Amino acid sequence: MNYELNKEIQKVAEVAGYLWQKGWAERNGGNITVNITEFVDDEMRALPALSEPLQIGTTLPHLKGCYFYCKGTGKRMRDLAREPMQNGSIIRILDDCKSYVIVADELVMPTSELPSHLSIHDYLIASGSSYKASLHTHPIELVAMSHSKAFLGKDVLTRLLWSMIPETLAFAPLGLGIVPYTLPGSVALADATLQQIRDYDVVLWEKHGTVAVGTDIMDAFDQTDVLNKAATIYLRAKSMGFEPDGMTDAQMKEIQEVFHLPTSRPC
Ligand code: 13P
Ligand code: ZN
Repeated sequence: MNYELNKEIQKVAEVAGYLWQKGWAERNGGNITVNITEFVDDEMRALPALSEPLQIGTTLPHLKGCYFYCKGTGKRMRDLAREPMQNGSIIRILDDCKSYVIVADELVMPTSELPSHLSIHDYLIASGSSYKASLHTHPIELVAMSHSKAFLGKDVLTRLLWSMIPETLAFAPLGLGIVPYTLPGSVALADATLQQIRDYDVVLWEKHGTVAVGTDIMDAFDQTDVLNKAATIYLRAKSMGFEPDGMTDAQMKEIQEVFHLPTSRPC
């Protein structure tokens, strides 16, 4: 494996360790995919398929010939942290844009959430985005908050989380999209996620977890971490017996202006 590709895979392993340490990755919980097409060399392009063609479940026209590192289904993040190529694999999308083959290193079947991940990557390429990584994880506090309908209205959580600590607004400036509960691993979940990822870098799957996109896997992790930190602050205040005041609208607007943040979401 060449130096650049190895560097990306090592970042995935590092993030997998963080997910486990944070308690967000029980058993095989969560998954990671990275579009590694730009790092693929002639040697990898020449690799024979290790699998039969496998169906994605949907047709994704912008992924023709692309390569992805994918966490393996049923694999543990804490194992992936030590051995990323034994707990994940590299796939190549075939010319029909609806199937793929596994090409390296071993015959590890990709994550069950592949429809969501690949639909997102298809959209990112189509829209000319520089984002290459997608992270699904189970952050405790955000998932807990998703159990109350009161938080699931459009931008209700976004506003609340931004108001907990200035950095949330600065480092998760698009806020948090919401996807109502949908069957894990389904194309319906992929479609619903795609609708939200057009407007948000991080989306919350009701009663399940988050999906985040970023320039690399570290970026996707950071945005999730920043939002979950704000959720933790809110819940700590509540557990001390009071409703946190939150920053005022004026204080948040000031941050949006000073840091030149996108202002499409209401403060
Ligand atoms: P996989 O083990 O198939 O990646 O599934 C984990 C998960 O979190 C499903 O939502
Ligand atoms: Zn999950």
